[in-house]
Amino acid sequence: MCSEIVENYVAAMVLGAAGDALGFNNGEWEFCSQGSEIHAELSKLGGIEHLDVAERIVSDDTVMHIATAEALVEAGKNIQPSNLYPLLAKKYKESMDDMDGRAPGGTCMDNSLRLEPAIPNGWMIPFHKSAGGCGAAMRAMCIGLRFPRPEQLNDLIRISVESGRMTHHHPTGYLGSVAAALFTSYAINHKPPHEWGKELLDLLPLVKNYVIDAARDVSQNLDAWSYFEEQWTSYLKERGILNGTSQPIFPEKYDVEERDQFYTSVSYSGWGGSSGHDAPMIAYDAILGSGDNWAELSHRAFFHGGDSDSTAAIAGAWFGSMYGFKGVPKANYERLEYRERLEKLGKDLYQLA
Ligand SMILES: *[C@@H]1O[C@H](CO)[C@@H](O)[C@H](O)[C@H]1NC(C)=O
Ligand SMILES: [Mg+2]
Repeated sequence: MCSEIVENYVAAMVLGAAGDALGFNNGEWEFCSQGSEIHAELSKLGGIEHLDVAERIVSDDTVMHIATAEALVEAGKNIQPSNLYPLLAKKYKESMDDMDGRAPGGTCMDNSLRLEPAIPNGWMIPFHKSAGGCGAAMRAMCIGLRFPRPEQLNDLIRISVESGRMTHHHPTGYLGSVAAALFTSYAINHKPPHEWGKELLDLLPLVKNYVIDAARDVSQNLDAWSYFEEQWTSYLKERGILNGTSQPIFPEKYDVEERDQFYTSVSYSGWGGSSGHDAPMIAYDAILGSGDNWAELSHRAFFHGGDSDSTAAIAGAWFGSMYGFKGVPKANYERLEYRERLEKLGKDLYQLA
């Protein structure tokens, strides 16, 4: 039983990064706006089982996810703000030294470099009205691995909010971080995916209370609060899972083109998965529609016309948390860049949790 769980921790870290590298495809697919073109290239290459991850570097998503995980591991049991938050800030800032060819987002870059981990409160940055991108969500999955139990929920919330708003001080950004962390904790506990969305909505008032209590730029945060919640409510309604009890309903025809259209329709400004609300939403949609089928997951979450590496990094981590490496072609992860680091982080997070 236990060794099975360790394996899922390792798979969460490794397959998140594998998804990132495959969806990124050295920058060629992250920025391709036509899912159909990506799928045509994919089938020319022999399909997902023939994609050798050795030829593809990980992108900014994985470098920053490693930064989050390393801070959690170095902090150990001392997760007090005065210990953990400066460590997170230091890791995010240092992660910017490893971004060559990895296409880091502007908000992550600018704000990571602004962090001053050695100065009291130097990990705080002010509210920013356009910091709703997916950069906070894409690096938060390991927080759910570290805090998987119900009695750890308050730590999961505060740490996903604060690590998120070290670069993305806007609710659309850091609520994406909460969703990515929370759903990882559900995945590692084998909670059925159709229940996750409703639980997220039910928890939002708790997150809001935390943000109010933390007393930083509260009125600006509250003014910008509703978008994330409205988008998620409307998505869950569309899939028929707003009550968390029914199985999801998908359109009869939901192939590459229809998915591209849908991902665009839930996006903030036309690039599906590039925001804090829709990166976890598209990853979730793919998890709901794929079950334990890795190839299907890759088609839905890694290869589409939107911000494919971020939705892939998130979906890959959830898949690994639930199913381990089951059914995943070795070529997709065996020679992954940073694989040993990721494996070790998975094991260390398991020990700490
Ligand atoms: C939950 O919602 C679905 C979709 O709207 C509906 O079909 C189902 O009857 C609802 N279940 C309960 C228990 O209310
Ligand atoms: Mg990326």
